[in-house]
Amino acid sequence: MRKSSTNELAFFGGRPTFGELLHVGRPNIGDRERFLARMNDMFNRRWLSNDGPFAQELEQKIAKLLGVKHCLVMCNATVALEITACALGLEGEVILPSFTFIASPHSLQWQEITPVFCDIDPLTHNIDPARIENLITPRTTGILGVHVWGRACEVDKLSALAQKHKLRLMFDAAHAFGCTHQGRMIGGFGDAEVFSFHATKFFNTFEGGAVTTNNDELAEKIRGMRNFGFAGLDNVTSIGTNGKMSEASAAMGLSSLESMDEFIETNHNNYLAYAKGLAGVPGIRLINYNDKEKNNYQYIVLEIQEGEAGIDRDLLVKILNAENILVRRYFYPGCHQMEPYRSYFPNAGLVLPETEKLTLKVLQLPTGTAVGDKEIMDICELIRFIFANAAEIRDRAEK
Ligand SMILES: Cc1ncc(COP(=O)(O)O)c(C=O)c1O
Repeated sequence: MRKSSTNELAFFGGRPTFGELLHVGRPNIGDRERFLARMNDMFNRRWLSNDGPFAQELEQKIAKLLGVKHCLVMCNATVALEITACALGLEGEVILPSFTFIASPHSLQWQEITPVFCDIDPLTHNIDPARIENLITPRTTGILGVHVWGRACEVDKLSALAQKHKLRLMFDAAHAFGCTHQGRMIGGFGDAEVFSFHATKFFNTFEGGAVTTNNDELAEKIRGMRNFGFAGLDNVTSIGTNGKMSEASAAMGLSSLESMDEFIETNHNNYLAYAKGLAGVPGIRLINYNDKEKNNYQYIVLEIQEGEAGIDRDLLVKILNAENILVRRYFYPGCHQMEPYRSYFPNAGLVLPETEKLTLKVLQLPTGTAVGDKEIMDICELIRFIFANAAEIRDRAEK
């Protein structure tokens, strides 16, 4: 529905553009019949969890896809991060970006490892390797890089820093399943990488995640820790927790793998449609993906340059939400602004200027199977309308 005056915006009482809510991450569901057939197999076997045949098959298929020696599927990425940090012997302080989902620092703080927030490169949105050395202290034991939006960190520089300072290097690859860095699948970098297969990720196992590594010893340690520290019946050899993936989740993972190319193609088409629809709008920067790499195009991320746009990100979000377009402000306000970190490090923002700037201008648009070309055209047209009438909208909103 084309709007011809600001009165027609739902924010000012008009009819919303969409009758149904459009979410950023509506779950992808592959072939239902194949999934249900797997559920029948699972019930017939009465093997519902504990390293079942579906979990093992999923691990083998993911390890092959990513070209890594070991894949350990888990109940979710947060527990996978906790287990990996523990298995790597991390303690004291670990350096990571604040521009990430809260699970990254929580996975450390949960085991009393202090997260030390590092600023980002404003172009890549990833941790800035040039700022890491200043943060290293005698208590630092590791670096946790995050491949934000599935775009790889500067892996070579981080590896060199880790080697020079004898630190462990792990990656939160929650966003980066199916993506490459310099032509190599993400999964084999650093000591270990952790993926999320949460329902909102383009590849999901309802809840789930995985750790991948080429280190045999580390893989064995993680395998034990995932299962309460058991190293055999009646034999517990380390501290452990319950990080196991259920067979129902693993079956969903196998079905998702079969449809993965289709999911990525949908995301890619959506990305191209948004790029076309928003081209030339002053004040909007759509983050780009390097076409020479494999990307999952899971996130459509805009930066709103308020000065040029004439409207700030937060007002734009309210106006789009009123139209039933549930855009999100990831990662606002930045982990350092959330508890308990805000209380622990009240001045962290002083050394995170790029993070603070980015958290005020970034937003994500709906994609995946939630939208098709028609919805994307309507969203882009609406955004163009809002930007063309920014001054009037701002004045009315302030009244
Ligand atoms: C960067 C990042 N790390 C970790 C997680 C946690 O993943 P999970 O929900 O599987 O625990 C997420 C979830 O969205 C994430 O975006």
